[in-house]
Amino acid sequence: MTDHRIPTARLGDGGPEVGVQGLGCMGMSFAYGPTDTDASRATLERALELGVTLYDTADAYGAGENERFLAPFFKAHRDEVVVATKFALSIPPDDPTRRIVRNDAPYVREAVEASLRRLDLDVIDLLYMHRRDVNVPIEETVGVMAELVREGKVKHLGLSEVTGDELRAAQAVHPIAAVQSEWSLFSRDIEAGVVPAARALGVALVPYSPLGRGFLTGSFADAEQDLTDDDFRRQQPRYTGDNAAANAALLAPVRTVAEAHGATLAQIALAWVQQRARVHGLPVVPIPGTRKPARVAENAAATGIVLTQDELSLLEPIAQKVAGDRYADMTFTSAGRE
Ligand SMILES: NC(=O)c1ccc[n+]([C@@H]2O[C@H](COP(=O)([O-])OP(=O)(O)OC[C@H]3O[C@@H](n4cnc5c(N)ncnc54)[C@H](OP(=O)(O)O)[C@@H]3O)[C@@H](O)[C@H]2O)c1
Repeated sequence: MTDHRIPTARLGDGGPEVGVQGLGCMGMSFAYGPTDTDASRATLERALELGVTLYDTADAYGAGENERFLAPFFKAHRDEVVVATKFALSIPPDDPTRRIVRNDAPYVREAVEASLRRLDLDVIDLLYMHRRDVNVPIEETVGVMAELVREGKVKHLGLSEVTGDELRAAQAVHPIAAVQSEWSLFSRDIEAGVVPAARALGVALVPYSPLGRGFLTGSFADAEQDLTDDDFRRQQPRYTGDNAAANAALLAPVRTVAEAHGATLAQIALAWVQQRARVHGLPVVPIPGTRKPARVAENAAATGIVLTQDELSLLEPIAQKVAGDRYADMTFTSAGRE
């Protein structure tokens, strides 16, 4: 099957050139219920055909399982893909609601060596600090990340869920290619602090959960009713109970815009995130997650949709009306520290 390949963008001033939409691989091993490994493999291959080159994983996804699952795909396409992984977060298997965050230098080294082994690679293209431990100066963490660059184990650096001030402190130690944070029609808290800082510093934004973890596509309406017991979204206040019902009603303008474009809700949600690049004046490379080849093609096609000013105005009020936080515990988010 041949398709129009998506355009490219550079991650940060000195970062890698990648397809302007990446692929979030987390759900292939973790968080979103049962997975089909054959369909996930086909999704990875389909994404590459479409010009998707940035593939996102983390050591925390399935306690290393996601990195191991992706390793053969990365090996087969080493020169075509940009491999992004993360350290700092671990989730105890006996208590999946708990988060342990570590940023100290010895831990970072140990975590990166373990990721390299699981990924079966000599070098990680983009290494993110997944979450911030406020007890460790960010200069220490980015300092050891920079040492790993000098040692040839990592090519580019990124940070996830950091504040504008934390990004500025990090950039003073070593160039940061990208900040990965939640950014969608439902989640816009980063526009106050880290987005202006990233623009000023020449750092790209990599929006995670750009589809509101699937909620913005209309594929589920209430996590507790529609999703399996182990699905992470059942822990998120905005996707359950009265909040979910109130938030589902907020999708009405997204539907109106989708109908005007002959597009799906997912495509409008992605086009909106993509258009943040123009609105805020910085490179933006969202990483929607899917495990289905047809959906990766649908999502990639959203890079060709341009929303009019009237459509942007219609979508503008949504985020401030969303009921419920992004996480049950906002301690480890940038919004919790801004
Ligand atoms: N840095 C961080 O802290 C952090 C946090 C969360 C996620 N992430 C990264 O960001 C990536 C993306 O975020 P996410 O996966 O949480 O959320 P997302 O991209 O907003 O949504 C993913 C969900 O949407 C569904 N979906 C995808 N395309 C669709 C379409 N066209 N139509 C209908 N449903 C569709 C997927 O289901 P199927 O898979 O069944 O298609 C999945 O349930 C993750 O994979 C991960 O790599 C990072």
